[in-house]
Amino acid sequence: MGIKLHDQTLRDAHQSLLATRLRTEDMLEVAPLMDEVGFFSVEVWGGATFDAAMRYLAEDPWERLQKLKERFKKTPMQMLLRGMNLVAYRNFPDDVVTEFVRLAKKNGVDNFRIFDALNDLRNLEVPIKAVKKYGGHVQGALSYTESPVHTVEYYVEHFKKLAEMGCDSLVIKDMAGIISPQRARDIVAGVKKAGIDLPLELHSHCTSGMTEMAYMEAVHAGVDILDTAMSPFSNGVSQPPTESVVAALQGTPWDTGYDFELLMRIREKLVLVWNKYRHLHEETILRPDPGVLEYKIPGGMMSNMLSQLKSMNALDKLPAILKEVPVVWKEFGYPPLVTPLSQIVGSQAVANVLSGERYKLVQKETKDYLRGMYGKPPAPIDEEVLEKVFGPSWKDEIITVRPADLLEPELEKRREELKSMGLIKKEEDVLTYTIFPDVAVRFFKGEIRPEFTSKDLPLKKKQFEVEVEGNTYKVRLD
Ligand code: CO
Repeated sequence: MGIKLHDQTLRDAHQSLLATRLRTEDMLEVAPLMDEVGFFSVEVWGGATFDAAMRYLAEDPWERLQKLKERFKKTPMQMLLRGMNLVAYRNFPDDVVTEFVRLAKKNGVDNFRIFDALNDLRNLEVPIKAVKKYGGHVQGALSYTESPVHTVEYYVEHFKKLAEMGCDSLVIKDMAGIISPQRARDIVAGVKKAGIDLPLELHSHCTSGMTEMAYMEAVHAGVDILDTAMSPFSNGVSQPPTESVVAALQGTPWDTGYDFELLMRIREKLVLVWNKYRHLHEETILRPDPGVLEYKIPGGMMSNMLSQLKSMNALDKLPAILKEVPVVWKEFGYPPLVTPLSQIVGSQAVANVLSGERYKLVQKETKDYLRGMYGKPPAPIDEEVLEKVFGPSWKDEIITVRPADLLEPELEKRREELKSMGLIKKEEDVLTYTIFPDVAVRFFKGEIRPEFTSKDLPLKKKQFEVEVEGNTYKVRLD
């Protein structure tokens, strides 16, 4: 049976390559043509795009969704939902999660890819139930990583449970782009052999340079769907190119049957879009970096750490920090390095090195993680670390229930707050405000100025070098 593709151009690919800055009007330009291809789905919403649209582009993410829905008439639109974190980085109570899903569905999301950074399946119960309730397709995702606990059996067992929880399809979510051909084959074959009778998808990034090979092995092992991005937005820390995967499978039993000429027409349009955003192009993230296999550090996490170090004038500490990351990672119970855990592990490694004493500085988010407020870590957290952070009675600090069980309902309170400010124009605004209160208020008041509008493009590169009296200085333009 033919393989289907799930195109990521309008979500993950520009999040990975253009700092999530693709404006809605450029998406609308290509959407009607993309709708003709016959993709399994197109991912267009969620992840970091909700926040970034508002914060940097002064766009209402709900309006983007509605406008895309008008153009994707045949292709299911997918969003990436970070479990109880929705499209942010903290846990929300059940009432907020359920209402968010209702409105996402109402405004145009058909398929919900739901994951929990820790693969703590308790964190997926409420969002899965909500998607089912409102008639959406649930794609259950497992964050992929490699550690002594993340074995093939681990993935097969967790997928089995996701199937029992009512998922409609399943996905291996390799956000760091580290999956090897052998691992891809083993997990896919394992899932199929276990008789889990749901479409299985592989989501990866080209970061390691092995991804196309991993995709082929996954195909041979029986994967049903692959995540790709149109070529101008592909490769590097993004997905493998849609057109190339289509071509590679032509004339095989896995032929997608997609119209290659149509894809070339979409490509032509997207090349122009890509060139418009040249001020955001970063050469380093357009190339594979097999270094990711050594440190298992996803591209986004690396660039966060680099900008953190740059702002502290401590780039020379990078080698020591790269050694510290895997140590912290192990002590923290091997959490998959996806948002927000990648930031938690990364910041702690930076703090451990720069402060000169391990765990002398610990951020609030990190303490929350260590307490179990994000969910159950894949392996137990190092007790010495817990004692160092919380003192001798650290056991009293740790929770064992589902984190959201400790949260009070929040929606009505937020609705009243926003109403009293006179800022509710539509019911979605309450959710926007609940999830990102500060940005939302500024946005509703019209105080956010877009970094750029479409007619400002192309802009000059954000960073350039100047020479003054023989010295070279890097200047940032923001
Ligand atoms: Co991704």
